[in-house]
Amino acid sequence: MQLQCSNQHCGESLPRDFAAFDCPKCGDLLELSCNGFQPDPIELKALWRDRRLSNDPADRSGVWRFREFLPDYSSDQIVSLGEGNTPLIAGHKTGAFAGLSNLQFKHLGWNPTGSFKDLGMTVAVTEARARGVKVVACASTGNTAASMAAYAARAGIAARVYLPKGRLSPAKVAQSLDYGAEIVEVDGNFDQALAMMTERKSSSEYFLNSINPFRVEGQKTTMFELMEQVDWNPPDFVVVPGGNLGNSSAFGKALRELSEARLIDRVPRLVIVQARGANALVKTLAAGSGQLEAVVEPKTCASAISIGAPRSWRKALTALNFTKGNVLDVSDEEILEAKSVIGLDGIGCEPASATTLAGIRRLRRTGEIGEHDRVVAILTGHVLKDPDIILKTHSERMAAAEVSA
Ligand code: F0G
Repeated sequence: MQLQCSNQHCGESLPRDFAAFDCPKCGDLLELSCNGFQPDPIELKALWRDRRLSNDPADRSGVWRFREFLPDYSSDQIVSLGEGNTPLIAGHKTGAFAGLSNLQFKHLGWNPTGSFKDLGMTVAVTEARARGVKVVACASTGNTAASMAAYAARAGIAARVYLPKGRLSPAKVAQSLDYGAEIVEVDGNFDQALAMMTERKSSSEYFLNSINPFRVEGQKTTMFELMEQVDWNPPDFVVVPGGNLGNSSAFGKALRELSEARLIDRVPRLVIVQARGANALVKTLAAGSGQLEAVVEPKTCASAISIGAPRSWRKALTALNFTKGNVLDVSDEEILEAKSVIGLDGIGCEPASATTLAGIRRLRRTGEIGEHDRVVAILTGHVLKDPDIILKTHSERMAAAEVSA
């Protein structure tokens, strides 16, 4: 694998160990390239299935099982916590709520640190260790930090996390502390924390935000695993929350690679759902100027996606173009209502993840999604990632319980 510019009009290619994440020619983000890899689809699908019966840690990981599409490492280099292998769960009350006969959830919150970030971190921390990195760093709304801290601890690398002070769930800060990370609190929002980290240019820090192309590679495998779970018969829609837009970009890249390698013969439409108070991609598409329309003061109850200037916005647009997808925003009220219904299905998730159900419901109402379309919503974070918001939502029930006790 080698690095290349994600802007197809630029065409710059670079060696895999190139230090920066931006293209030196045009400034767009870099990505890793499989260079037209053309496996035998039937053989490869059988190999991936057989690996599920193996006890080799690389085969048991839901990321490394798909290693033919990942950067190459020897098995003793891989830093894994047994990530991936997350279930597809049918939505019952949620299906009725959205008006759908076939709604399923892929719950990435059921990963080792409770979010989808683990899928990317296993690859990026493996790369960091292979490069001999001593300190990894990220700015975060909480989940990236927790995940990086855990994988860095496994790898014996120091972790430094830049967190927007007072703006994230305490449960996530607690995780980073538990895994031994050094915490730098930044007076400002996520965008300011990210800017501060990159501007410091501490030469010893290797950044593990989703601008790091190795993160994207690991997150890509969600689509590989999903397609396997639906017997390679792609759903009509895949719906994902949008924050810094790394995950949407990873899914777009995965779907392109799966389609080019003839592992799928149809591409699902990707729907990105943002919170109304942090809807930079929605505004950018509406303006159509080819420039990012950033949100200066992002504000939403879904703190994980309270991001005003998503770094991977161009990659996300490429993903939407390739999949004939769509982006929309939903209000905090819609997010919290959808979150409660996901809870009533016995599934649960953090607020950012619930944007998916709120978005699906809206697109069902406008007719963009049909009643019998097959829809998969990607839940990105575990219900216990943000207990405060649950207690707040249900404070009246709590008060009633106290009286009757
Ligand atoms: N859902 C959850 C639970 C998240 O934590 C994030 C991002 C997203 C969705 C959005 O994903 O950024 O790839 O578009 N959390 C980052 C963090 C920003 O620092 O934990 P994205």
